[in-house]
Amino acid sequence: MERIQKIIANSGYCSRRKAEQLIIDGKVKVNGVIVKTLGTKASKNDQILVEGNVLPNIEKLYFVMNKPRYTISSVSDDKNRPTVISILPEVYQNLGLYPVGRLDYDTKGVLLLTNDGEFMNELVGPKSNLEKVYLARIDGVFSKINLANLKSGVMLDGVKTRKCYAKIEEIDKKNQSSLVKIALSEGKYHQVKRMFLAVGFTVKNLTRIKFGEITTDGLKEGEFRELTPHEIKRLYVLSKKTTI
Ligand code: URA
Repeated sequence: MERIQKIIANSGYCSRRKAEQLIIDGKVKVNGVIVKTLGTKASKNDQILVEGNVLPNIEKLYFVMNKPRYTISSVSDDKNRPTVISILPEVYQNLGLYPVGRLDYDTKGVLLLTNDGEFMNELVGPKSNLEKVYLARIDGVFSKINLANLKSGVMLDGVKTRKCYAKIEEIDKKNQSSLVKIALSEGKYHQVKRMFLAVGFTVKNLTRIKFGEITTDGLKEGEFRELTPHEIKRLYVLSKKTTI
C-alpha cells in the first residue's frame, strides 16, 4: 500500500505536488469513491481515476549496465553517437529508460538505468550521500603528498570538494603512470578529472567500479542486468546516510 499521491506521481501522470492538489480538489477517485484525504493509501490493484482518466500502470524498471567507453550517458545524441540506450537490445529501447546521472563519453563502468524519476532524483539529487568509487589511471607518478592533497579536498568553481577516501593502487615508474582509487559522495561536473587536474595530474582512463554497493561483477562491457528489490532498497538507504 502506498499513498495515492505517490502512486499517481510514480505513474508519470504528474508531479507529486500536482497529485496532492488534484486530491484536495476532489479530482481523484479510488474504486469509484472520491478521496480528498492526502494520507489515504491504495494498492496497485485498486482502480485509481485521476480527472476521469485511468492511471497508466507503468512498471518501474531498474538496471545496472557496464557502460563501455565512447557511449553517451543520455537517451539520444544530436551527433548520432551511440548512447547507453541505443546499445541496449531493441526491446529495451522504448521502455522510457534513462541513465541515473552521467558518466563521461570516455568513462566506463557502473551506470544505473531506470524509468523511475523519483528514484533517480533521490540517488543523484543534491541531498544524496551515495558513494561512487572510481579507478583513475593518471599520467605521472602520484606521491603521498599528492594523495593527501586530493583527500583533503580541492577547490572546484570556488567551492572546496568534501574530504574523500583515496588510495594509490599502483605506481608504474617506467611508464610514468599511476592508478588511484577515489571514493566520492558528491557528483560535480567532471569531478574526478577536475580534482586530479587541481593537484596537477591528467586522468587518462576512468572507470566507475561502484555506485553505492552496485558493481559490474559478472557483466561484460555493454551488458546489463536488473537490480534486485534488495539492491534498490539499499541504494535508497545509502543515499540518505550521512557522511563524516
Ligand atoms: N568524474 C569525471 O570526471 N568523469 C566521470 O565520468 C565521472 C566522474
